[in-house]
Amino acid sequence: MQYFRYQEQELWCEEVPVSELAQEFGTPLYVYSKNQIVDNFRAVEAPLTGTDHTVCYALKANSNPAILTLLAQEGAGADVVSAGELYLALKAGFAPGRIAFAGVGKREDEIEYALNSSIFVFNAESTQELQLISLVAARLGKKARIGLRINPDIDAQSHPYITTGLKENKFGISAGEAMAVFQYAAGLPGIEVVGIHTHIGSQIVKVEPFVEAAGFVAGLVAKLREAGIILQHIDFGGGIGVQYSNALFHEGLPHENPGAIPPPPGDFVRAVLPTLKETGCSLWLEPGRSIVADAGVLLTTVLYTKENGLKKFVIVDGGMNDLLRPALYDAYHQIVPVKITTYEHDKVDVVGPICETGDFFARDRMLAKVKRNDHLAIMTTGAYGYVNTSNYNARPRPAEILVNGEKVRVIRERQTLDQLF
Ligand SMILES: Cc1ncc(COP(=O)(O)O)c(C=O)c1O
Repeated sequence: MQYFRYQEQELWCEEVPVSELAQEFGTPLYVYSKNQIVDNFRAVEAPLTGTDHTVCYALKANSNPAILTLLAQEGAGADVVSAGELYLALKAGFAPGRIAFAGVGKREDEIEYALNSSIFVFNAESTQELQLISLVAARLGKKARIGLRINPDIDAQSHPYITTGLKENKFGISAGEAMAVFQYAAGLPGIEVVGIHTHIGSQIVKVEPFVEAAGFVAGLVAKLREAGIILQHIDFGGGIGVQYSNALFHEGLPHENPGAIPPPPGDFVRAVLPTLKETGCSLWLEPGRSIVADAGVLLTTVLYTKENGLKKFVIVDGGMNDLLRPALYDAYHQIVPVKITTYEHDKVDVVGPICETGDFFARDRMLAKVKRNDHLAIMTTGAYGYVNTSNYNARPRPAEILVNGEKVRVIRERQTLDQLF
């Protein structure tokens, strides 16, 4: 079910009209649907029933404590990439034995913190990192469980900034070196080699790159077994893509380009499951975007409209400091009026108040005609939205709201000017 939907001319989140939230809490405002998050998590996990598995939520997508607590209660594990994310995961109640620590640049203090927290596994990405983990573990009188992140040189066919499984990318150990590095790791005193990790990229909209990666990983697991290295688990990473255009339909909205329409999240899992299950390893996944993206919107208010003979601009009260994705990746988000008051459309740029030309949410976009004080919802902003906010131009960070049926909860207060100094 879609928990953001139009009821007649008005946008609702679950059982709450979104305009009421904008009125009560002000804008810019992130609004999340609790039930959409839960449904999304269950959609990824459902095909794994009967398989030894852990679905680790990737905290980097959205690390609001209330959302983390919700997912920990759903039984998710956690994929963390920093001491900060590990701290949040532990505070939110994720079991340490269901936490994987990834990332190409772990500091010594982070390694020590993770070892002392008894996390399940470090996904290590270089020989030097292995040496350091082994050293720290030995110093603490512990053994660190290790998965090696292998870069399979597979094109995820995503945006270059979020493609991670190509040889030219900084991530992992190259496929050609994998065997030798596994053997090296197995000989280090502070290390127990337990798994293999791969993550080929984010916002992947076809199953084919995943299927190719699954074949690669299964082949490597078999070769390692022949060499006497028996792995217990495969961590297959995240990357399941979501639909950004046409997130909402209403007859009064302008026609959107179809954009990429990925299969449902469960289909990605089903496509790789037989190959990965065949290895006899337990299966770990690390979805982030597919759990939270369509469960969130960013609400803004139209401050001004203006035109210069060449272009029409809609200037809103949210900026690239509130949602960076369009500026960073030219990412597409559908933008819709919270109340549809006209079926007339205009071609406009939707821009923020920041002193950068890159501060835009849409360019040359057909949008319902709007006027001062109208509210707009920027759709599918639950992932990589709030986590990338900043205080650029000394703008306080927005508030976050979680809706559950008719219940509304502030899960992060709006920053105040006091907090900027
Ligand atoms: C190692 C790792 N796992 C999981 C994820 C989550 O990816 P996604 O949000 O596309 O599911 C990422 C994202 O960059 C990642 O780097």
